[in-house]
Parts: sequence; C-alpha cells; structure tokens
Amino acid sequence: MLDVQNIRKDFPILQRKVNGKPLIYFDNAATSQTPQQVIDVIVDYYTNYNANIHRGVHSLSQEATDAYEQARIKIQKHFNAKHPHEIIYTAGTTHSINLVANGFSSLLQKGDEIIVSALEHHSNIVPWQMLCERTGAILKVIPMNENGELILSDFDALLNDHTKLVFVNHISNALGTINPIEYIIDEAHKVGAAVLVDGAQSCPHIKPDVQALDVDFYVCSAHKLCGPTGVGMLYGKEDWLNKLPPYQGGGEMIAEVSFEKTTYAALPHKFEAGTPNICGGIAFGAAIDYMNSIGFDNIAQYEHELLEYGTEQLQKIEGLKIYGTAKEKTSVISFNVGTIHPYDIGTILDKMGIAVRTGHHCAQPIMDFYKIPGTVRASFMFYNTKEEIDTFITALKKAVMMLS
Ligand SMILES: Cc1ncc(COP(=O)(O)O)c(C=O)c1O
Repeated sequence: MLDVQNIRKDFPILQRKVNGKPLIYFDNAATSQTPQQVIDVIVDYYTNYNANIHRGVHSLSQEATDAYEQARIKIQKHFNAKHPHEIIYTAGTTHSINLVANGFSSLLQKGDEIIVSALEHHSNIVPWQMLCERTGAILKVIPMNENGELILSDFDALLNDHTKLVFVNHISNALGTINPIEYIIDEAHKVGAAVLVDGAQSCPHIKPDVQALDVDFYVCSAHKLCGPTGVGMLYGKEDWLNKLPPYQGGGEMIAEVSFEKTTYAALPHKFEAGTPNICGGIAFGAAIDYMNSIGFDNIAQYEHELLEYGTEQLQKIEGLKIYGTAKEKTSVISFNVGTIHPYDIGTILDKMGIAVRTGHHCAQPIMDFYKIPGTVRASFMFYNTKEEIDTFITALKKAVMMLS
C-alpha cells in the first residue's frame, strides 16, 4: 500500500498553484515530476563536485566520474543488464533510437525488411523511415484494432527471412496499451531479426528485465521516471553494440587518433562522444533509487486503481469516447467529448489548474486510424489521487458545458 499523501510531500511542484488553483498534474506521460531527493542530487552536484569526467586526475573530476559510473551500475542493475558497458548514456529515447538506426545503416541491404507497429511514437517511426531511405530496406507495419491492440496474427504473417529488425514500444504513449513484447521478441528471434523495445512509457510503471526478455535493445528517458530531462539510456546486448559502428565522433569515444587512422574506445565509451550530461546521468541513478524505494509492484497496483477509477468516472460523461480500451493498459486515458476540439478542453482545464495533454501525442498514425485530429490525454502517476480525479471530472463537465 502506498502512503500517497506522504509521497506527495516529496514533490515540491505539487504544492504550487496554477491560475490560482492547486495544480493537478495529469500530463505524466509527457514528463513526470521530480522529487526533492533527485533535486537534491542535482544541487549537490553543481554545489560540490561539478567537473568533467574520465580525463581529470584532480579530486572533483574523480568524484564526478565515480558518481557517473556508479549511476550506470544502478541503471544496469535496475534493468538487469549483464554488464554495465551494455548501458549507453544518451540524451533520451529519441537519441537512443537514432543511434541504433544510424548503426544499422551499414548492416542492412536493399530488400531487407523492418517491422514497426501502428502504435508507435514518431520517435520510433521516423528514424527507421530515414534508415530505409539510406539502405533501400522496406518498412512494414503491424496493424492495430479498434481497441488499440496490435493484431498479432498480422505480425506473424509479416515475419519472414528478410525481416532484420522489429521495433515496438512496450507501452503506447497515446493510448496506454501494454504490448505483448515477450511474444513479439520470441517470434522475431525465430526468423533471426533483432528487436528494439521503446520503453519510454513503460519505465515509469514497470521494471523490465532485459535478460529475461532476451531483448536486443531497450531504450528510455529519465524524465519519464522522475529524473531530469536531457538524459536517457540505450541498453544493447554486448554483441550488437560491438557490431554497430559509432554514432558520433569526438572526444571520449576514441582509443587512438592520428590523421592516418583513428581507433575507437571500448564499450560503452564508443557511443558516448563529447562531454555527456554528467549531472543528468547521476540524477538518473537517483531517480531509479527513488522509484525503487516506492516499489514498482506498489506503483503498478495503485496506478491501476487510478486508471479504473478515472475510466469509470469519465464514462459517465455524455458524449465522451475513450480511445484505447486494450485489455492490458497502463494509467493513460485518451478521450474526446462529442465534436469539441481537444485544445479547447485542455485550455479551459488549464484555467482551472489542471494540466492534461492535447493533440496527436506524436502519434499521428494512431489519430489517422481513428480519423480524429487528436485527443485529450490524462495520464496518472503514483503521486496522483482519486480526489484529483474527482476535481478533474467536475472541471471537465464545466468545460464541456461551456463549449457545447
Ligand atoms: C513511446 C515514446 N517513445 C519515445 C518518446 C520520445 O522520448 P524523448 O522525447 O524523451 O526522447 C516518447 C515521449 O513521449 C514516448 O512516449
């Protein structure tokens, strides 16, 4: 059982008012809020040991290097990667996916096939389209049904000896669907394809075990799980990371440089050119500590209660339609009310202190499937409450009355 009232005290932002009303933050799928424990780590870094890492002999540099590498080990343990060097720090999910897509440029040939799902964020579509343009590979799509679930029989039919890569998100940001990634990974491996799972939306709710999943690449952003923006990670199996060429050239990623020939550093540094987001990496580790101190089983159970309660209350509003009714779902509710534009609802809710996301949620193919311009999306985290949902429902009813 979570002591939510106590947990809320960890998040200073939840005490503030917006437009004169107590903030109700239901835009967690876009970015989560930051607890004091993580803010303290960031302040401590800049107050006490801000220095560049890996190349200094002085104390500050060594302290910063130790903290940064300790955080990598925390991340490794959290995801149960076999080695710390299988964790590559990146600027976030988008950066991680581009790194892999760029690396496959030299491994794919014309006519090779890549499979993505209909439920992807643009970050897990566009880099693969660009890869196809570079290599002549063909992009195929696992279709979805009206509930927002992937049609697995169609996925099976897409797989063949030409399939080289499969990309799927663990959880859809627009609809909250939890995808059957275990099945997708197993089936893709049967034809020898590698699988990248976009974990941007799963990491705040689920603790993935990359070895048990046997996934080839798993990516996420720290800001979705109570960490800072501008930092994330790429997990890759050691063999795959060794096969992929470096993404960017520069300092840190080299072994030897001369004008005749440069050799590259070993993992993970081969993929970490330039001065990284040092403080961000350290704070990412602190965010993982914080989430684990709450406990992922507790988080999943409580957020499921919020999802059920929110869904039940929203369904009572006349003319409201929920998009994404998958059996396996996380705490994201996308909806529209009649023909009211989602932006109008979002703007009025903001006046009442309630933050929701409106628009296509960087998932235009999903909106095209439902033939809508966008939705209003309320996404809950473990620090939200049923009382906040009640206030949101009252405010939404008011907004609907004003706009009808
Ligand atoms: C499923 C999914 N993939 C990728 C991203 C991109 O994450 P970032 O903007 O942190 O790179 C997001 C962000 O909302 C997402 O929800």
